[in-house]
Amino acid sequence: MRMIKPNVYSVGSIDFDARLFDRLIPLPDGTSYNSYLVRGNEKVALLDTVDPAKTKVLLNNLVKLGIDKIDYVIAHHAEQDHSGSLPDVLLIYPDAKVVTNPKCKGMLIDLLGIEDDKFITVEDGETLSLGDKTLQFVYLPWVHWPETMGTYLKEDKILFSCDFFGAHLASSSLFVEDEAVVYESAKRYYAEIMMPFRRQINTNLAKLSNLDIEIIAPSHGPVHNRPKFIVDAYKDWTSETVKNEVVMAYVSMHGSTAKMVSYFVEALMDRGITVRQFELSTVDIGKLAMALVDAATVVIGSPTVLIGPHPCAAYAAFLVNALRPKTKFASIIGSYSWGSKMVEQLTGMMSNLKAEILEPVLAKGEPRESDFAALDRLADEILAKHKEVGITN
Ligand code: FEO
Repeated sequence: MRMIKPNVYSVGSIDFDARLFDRLIPLPDGTSYNSYLVRGNEKVALLDTVDPAKTKVLLNNLVKLGIDKIDYVIAHHAEQDHSGSLPDVLLIYPDAKVVTNPKCKGMLIDLLGIEDDKFITVEDGETLSLGDKTLQFVYLPWVHWPETMGTYLKEDKILFSCDFFGAHLASSSLFVEDEAVVYESAKRYYAEIMMPFRRQINTNLAKLSNLDIEIIAPSHGPVHNRPKFIVDAYKDWTSETVKNEVVMAYVSMHGSTAKMVSYFVEALMDRGITVRQFELSTVDIGKLAMALVDAATVVIGSPTVLIGPHPCAAYAAFLVNALRPKTKFASIIGSYSWGSKMVEQLTGMMSNLKAEILEPVLAKGEPRESDFAALDRLADEILAKHKEVGITN
């Protein structure tokens, strides 16, 4: 339990040991499930709860603060890492009402079976007085679910932003200590869950520009006491601008595709293009997702397995398709021994990607001179395309 400002406390849980989120997302630096308590001179509000595995931590923090009555539990988001302790909180604080928007209310009923009469629903921009403190609700759809909202605490100029501006980062510091470290974690978090909604996130950024914000308190990671840092980072990530970078994501079985990747990466570097190379059987998908935030081009490298792509390459294509990065160009390189429909299958799997597909390069067996020449041709084409969109030096 830590104090952000007088009568505003962080009461959630820091999980230094967490290493996997949703059985999918690596957490190299742990995470936190932030819950906040705002004590007005008339009413008390708890903003979000924590993951159900950490309910005791939240409840102990409330006991330490001497909280014997909660009037409102503000539910910004129905996903269980923030709502999961809600049933226990309502058991212990039976007079508390759940304050949320109508969409989130429906989800909380579906996910947690909370009774209809426990809710107070609020509209976008509506306020709720706690006496000497005023909560204003701000709908923030698609960061990364449709029902998400934030709360602006007017008197203290604090925005409680839920997942928006968050970071999977366990830290004993309440506030951001090292912006470079938080930047990495926040970018990883944005890449993994928010990138597909970057246009809606841009709209939310514009909406927040009307508020005078001194502190951003997200639901994961440290609290931002220099909000410009994280807001500017989000503006960059969600902009239309791409960088002179190629993401080269590949897997190889007997070395043919690996030889092609090695030659191709060198060819790109010779042309002044930054390359982010990932071996897909060992990749940290968070790092791959982060690289996709900025890259102008993505190339998938795969051998042929049973006519199609290697499953690791198929997984990468599925991920790229789901994350919908702003990548402008894409291609495929790889190899086959006796027949392949890999290019058609991989291209079909990336149909969400609004990228121009550049002519792939497939080697039959070991790559030969003609294959290396084709890789040079692809590197030339990528350079020309990057020049067309004005991102080369
Ligand atoms: Fe941190 Fe979307 O929950």
